[in-house]
Amino acid sequence: MGASLKPYCLMHKNILVAELQLDTITGGIVSVGKVYAEEHVPIGVSVRKHRLDRGELNRWWRGRAIPASRAGLQDALQQLNVSDVQLLAEKCLGLSLSDQYWICPKASDLQWEQVNFFENPFSEDVGNILLGAVAECGQISLMSPDNTSDGWLQKKWIISEGKRCLIKGGSGAIRQEPYNEVLASCIMNRLEIPHVAYSLTQEGGYPYSICEDFITPDTELISAWHIMQTMKKENHVSVYQHYKNCCSGLGIPDIQRALDQMIVLDYLIVNEDRHMNNFGVIRRADTLEYLGAAPIFDSGTSLWFDKPTTLIRADAKVTCKPFKTTHEEQVKLVRDFSWLDLSALNGITDEWREIMKDSLFVDEARCEAICTSLSQRIKMLEKLILSRPQKMFCDNVQHDVKQNFAYSGEREDGCLGMKL
Ligand SMILES: Nc1ncnc2c1ncn2[C@@H]1O[C@H](COP(=O)(O)OP(=O)(O)OP(=O)(O)O)[C@@H](O)[C@H]1O
Ligand SMILES: [Mg+2]
Repeated sequence: MGASLKPYCLMHKNILVAELQLDTITGGIVSVGKVYAEEHVPIGVSVRKHRLDRGELNRWWRGRAIPASRAGLQDALQQLNVSDVQLLAEKCLGLSLSDQYWICPKASDLQWEQVNFFENPFSEDVGNILLGAVAECGQISLMSPDNTSDGWLQKKWIISEGKRCLIKGGSGAIRQEPYNEVLASCIMNRLEIPHVAYSLTQEGGYPYSICEDFITPDTELISAWHIMQTMKKENHVSVYQHYKNCCSGLGIPDIQRALDQMIVLDYLIVNEDRHMNNFGVIRRADTLEYLGAAPIFDSGTSLWFDKPTTLIRADAKVTCKPFKTTHEEQVKLVRDFSWLDLSALNGITDEWREIMKDSLFVDEARCEAICTSLSQRIKMLEKLILSRPQKMFCDNVQHDVKQNFAYSGEREDGCLGMKL
């Protein structure tokens, strides 16, 4: 069967942004036509002389598809009878529950109000299959926000009491990530850090975290990675400084405090995967006004989640992202600790024990090892702040993260993808 082209309009809610054509075999963007609303072009995609950069738009479009690294993806695609994740994204018109972009078939007069997942119901068919369920006979609805969900952990969107919620699993035999999300929420609650609240749920006997959609029909999440594409990064500028420069270039308010809080949290819980798609900013979709940093989400790859119990130690060597290669270097980026009251964490380990109470996956020895090491992390940070000269801020490109794993789909080759 030969490839054919399908004409679409790239839409931002009901605003026509540009015309484009998709290849029906690969789902890739083959050509980009007239641009109608330059200011609504997705952040990080360049427009030169009123023309959209097709390579960058394709990269943005690929970033809307489920990443190749998603657990259980191949089985799910087989069951859904769709050969490629890109085609799956096309099946739901590229709609997502994290922003307001979509593609509208050119001949149709569909309106955003008729199709968006914030206000219209959707089937859990795709989500259930992505979580490993076997497809039942009959028609499977492919109109699902799960077709455009990012990240490597198994997940699905549901509607619970009218609210859009994301259910997300854990990895390996221990499945610690959902528990970690809950503890991270408790920590941020106590430290008054704006965050997405996660709680625990179960599916088929396995632990999952559940959180509400923090995006509304009026707002959208833009990842730090996309923000970082808005300026060219000079070699002598650190990744951290580059992000801040991009934010200030776009007029995004209150980034400093949000970064300080994220770095402190990640130091405490020893987060290993705060890559550039795991934080970002929020803007209003209609007015394009930036509201500030997104609340902190996706903190589960922490608390020695994939280490054997015997190796759980406060000073264990772990990966650090997004700015520096170690938490010790990264925490030096914090400008101001005056908001931080570490005494608010007194008794936090009891909350961890409570979260772990009925876990079939994390045994008591592991639970206690994490309590001990977490308490030590808190003490380490306390000591560090006390011993630090007034101005200890230090940013040095020498310790910069070189690979930011921009799109989860690019994990395998570790492609940085930033405009360097
Ligand atoms: N509560 C939410 N509301 C809106 N969008 C969300 C929410 N939680 C996650 N997202 C979006 O879904 C993406 C995937 O979610 P998340 O990062 O939690 O998954 P993950 O599998 O843990 O990712 P990773 O591959 O980084 O480990 C996020 O990058 C974000 O764009
Ligand atoms: Mg993530």
